[in-house]
Amino acid sequence: MLSGALIAGLGGAVVGAAGGGTTAWAMASSEAAQVDDGDAVDLNRSHPFYGTGHQGGISTEPQRHTVFMTFRLADTASAKSLQTLLARWSAAAAVMQQGKPVGTVQPDNEVAPPTDTGEAFGLSPASLTVTIGLGPALFDGRFGLAARKPAAFSDLPTLNGDTLDPKFTGGELSVQACADDPQVCYHAVRNLARLGRSTVTPFWAVLGFGRTSAGPGQQTPRNLLGFKDGTRNVDTDEQYSKFVWVTGGDQPWMEGGTYQVVRKIRILLETWDTDRVGNQQRIIGRHKQEGSPLSGRSEKDTPDFAAKDTTGEPVINPLSHVALAAHENNDGVLIKRRGYNYTDGLDPNGQLNAGLLFISYQNDPQNFVRLQNRLGGHDLLNEYIRHVGSAIFAVPPAPEQGHYVAQALFG
Ligand code: HEM
Repeated sequence: MLSGALIAGLGGAVVGAAGGGTTAWAMASSEAAQVDDGDAVDLNRSHPFYGTGHQGGISTEPQRHTVFMTFRLADTASAKSLQTLLARWSAAAAVMQQGKPVGTVQPDNEVAPPTDTGEAFGLSPASLTVTIGLGPALFDGRFGLAARKPAAFSDLPTLNGDTLDPKFTGGELSVQACADDPQVCYHAVRNLARLGRSTVTPFWAVLGFGRTSAGPGQQTPRNLLGFKDGTRNVDTDEQYSKFVWVTGGDQPWMEGGTYQVVRKIRILLETWDTDRVGNQQRIIGRHKQEGSPLSGRSEKDTPDFAAKDTTGEPVINPLSHVALAAHENNDGVLIKRRGYNYTDGLDPNGQLNAGLLFISYQNDPQNFVRLQNRLGGHDLLNEYIRHVGSAIFAVPPAPEQGHYVAQALFG
């Protein structure tokens, strides 16, 4: 056990290493952030799967964890087996969102394999949402669906800043399971993978923790940069209607749906952690602790991109992340960001292998493409991040009771 004197000594060493202004630094860092008691997790909460208009996991309040997995179809898959898969996945998701197993954990017959894997047995629903997406490759003619491909939907082009690893790129189906209990997320995806075994094989997967967006009444969380993430996002029904839900598109089966863009973005944490806080704030365009724009004092202050300091320089650097991403500087366009932090442990060099599982929802994929090309070309943050994975999926609306996701696609 560490003695009190040793602990005090260690504290002194840390403060000493921080250099000038150490007293103020030590004071600030030892203050605990205010915790909002209203932002508590209720593990008993459950979301309905059917009849909600839009699938869950998009505009529903972000839960604390996700398991995101993409799948590839077997060479033998047919339109029929794809339909069966989507019907089985929908039925299973609906049951799991109620906190129930998809089958029997311990069958009476000892030689029968269990039809639910069992690890969530006895756990609460934990606000589980299962969001199912279809990749562009499903419309390549194999399943007779080519004429049903929405005009707006295709593979993402190569974007500025891409350093994609084929191991984390693409996929023919996606499942995003979000819940306030990581075991509930994992159970959901594992059981869908198991149910689909004859039709799909898992392709790549990410375990995400610590949401990087906030719903109504939730505190803004922090990403692995240590900055608040999700301060400015799509929030109102009007913004969802305008920027997220597909309306009046060329394909009726996507009416009320949306497009999911997923980017696995590694953050070079060791490098970031050696950077001065002033530079970190300049890169993001916000203060680290409060999350306020550099032009303001409170988190919710609207950034003033025209504000100048006493030397006539912009207070928010025009190449900062928020200046480049803000709707004020992008023809008013918004995207819904609903990402998670992730870690893959250590890389072969012993470096922290972690970052942001960026997930965005938009009714026009070009809104993401334009934004990422701008960020990928100019963002001061680029020195510290690498886009290593990428995929896009069409997310149809929620099915009505007795139907399944994307049923109208096959009608
Ligand atoms: C590792 C990668 C990224 C990190 C660490 C990151 C972090 C942040 C942070 C800290 C904020 C400020 C807080 C807020 O308003 O939510 C922010 C805002 C934002 N980010 Fe990112 N971001 C990343 C990638 C991206 C990407 C790939 C896009 C889109 C292509 C994007 C779009 C936005 C937008 C639209 C805003 C809101 C800007 C505003 O209206 O003020 N970010 N991000």
